[in-house]
Amino acid sequence: MQDRIVDDPTSLTGSDGPLVRLERVSYTAGDTPILTDLWLDIASGPPTILLGPNGAGKSTLLKLLMGLVAPTEGNLEARRVLGGRLPRMAFVFQRPVMLKRSAAANVAYALRAAGRSTSGNAIRDLLDRVALDHLRDRPARRLSAGEQQRLALARALAREPDLLLLDEPTASLDPTATKAVEDIVANVAREGVKVVIATHDMGQARRLGGDVVLVVGGRIAERSATEDFFKRPSTEAARRFLAGDLVLST
Ligand SMILES: Nc1ncnc2c1ncn2[C@@H]1O[C@H](COP(=O)(O)OP(=O)(O)OP(=O)(O)O)[C@@H](O)[C@H]1O
Ligand SMILES: [Mg+2]
Repeated sequence: MQDRIVDDPTSLTGSDGPLVRLERVSYTAGDTPILTDLWLDIASGPPTILLGPNGAGKSTLLKLLMGLVAPTEGNLEARRVLGGRLPRMAFVFQRPVMLKRSAAANVAYALRAAGRSTSGNAIRDLLDRVALDHLRDRPARRLSAGEQQRLALARALAREPDLLLLDEPTASLDPTATKAVEDIVANVAREGVKVVIATHDMGQARRLGGDVVLVVGGRIAERSATEDFFKRPSTEAARRFLAGDLVLST
């Protein structure tokens, strides 16, 4: 239902409103409700963390925000940013697929796809941001999992996104590689990119999160500032989730 994505919103204007607004959004795959009745504003500021049990709907929500799937009910609106254009978005999948080329060539491909210059400087700049320039000539598929995740971030940054969506970017990484990714994400967020991250890593949520959206059974169970979420959750669902009681989403 592509026509439910409003790409010329009149309700979202000005520079301090949300980048993206979901109103009464539901997503059903065939007969299966995946997300139900979501009301959510994604505004600029520190990263928003999506938490919730396996199968809750976090990845699907990220795909909705990215426009990879369209709501079956409700509206998803994007606010025009400075210059009157819609926000640029980039998505990093949990297991990014590398092109069978060098790290530098992967970045060049992403720059080309974004319609940007593929000069040596542009490539170096992006590889530097993820501390990979020394591995620029290595086949991307030979990079370690952590290095591949950083390269995936560089490719995403090639789009100069306003909104960067990350689906469990550190799920299979050790603490050192996780920290490297988190440092990049924190820098990108400080530069003004709005980051939304789905994660099962509570430490990561505390370290990176400005606010938390808890998704349970395809619904938003709680949304709070990160500190409040962990110190004084206001819903039973959040208390159960934090106690490790809430394992299944349905
Ligand atoms: N196209 C689809 N058809 C049928 N079911 C789907 C489809 N896409 C997602 N689902 C189901 O929707 C639910 C939510 O999936 P989703 O991947 O969004 O969960 P998640 O919160 O990201 O889980 P995890 O923490 O395991 O990554 C799951 O039960 C999944 O099987
Ligand atoms: Mg997921």
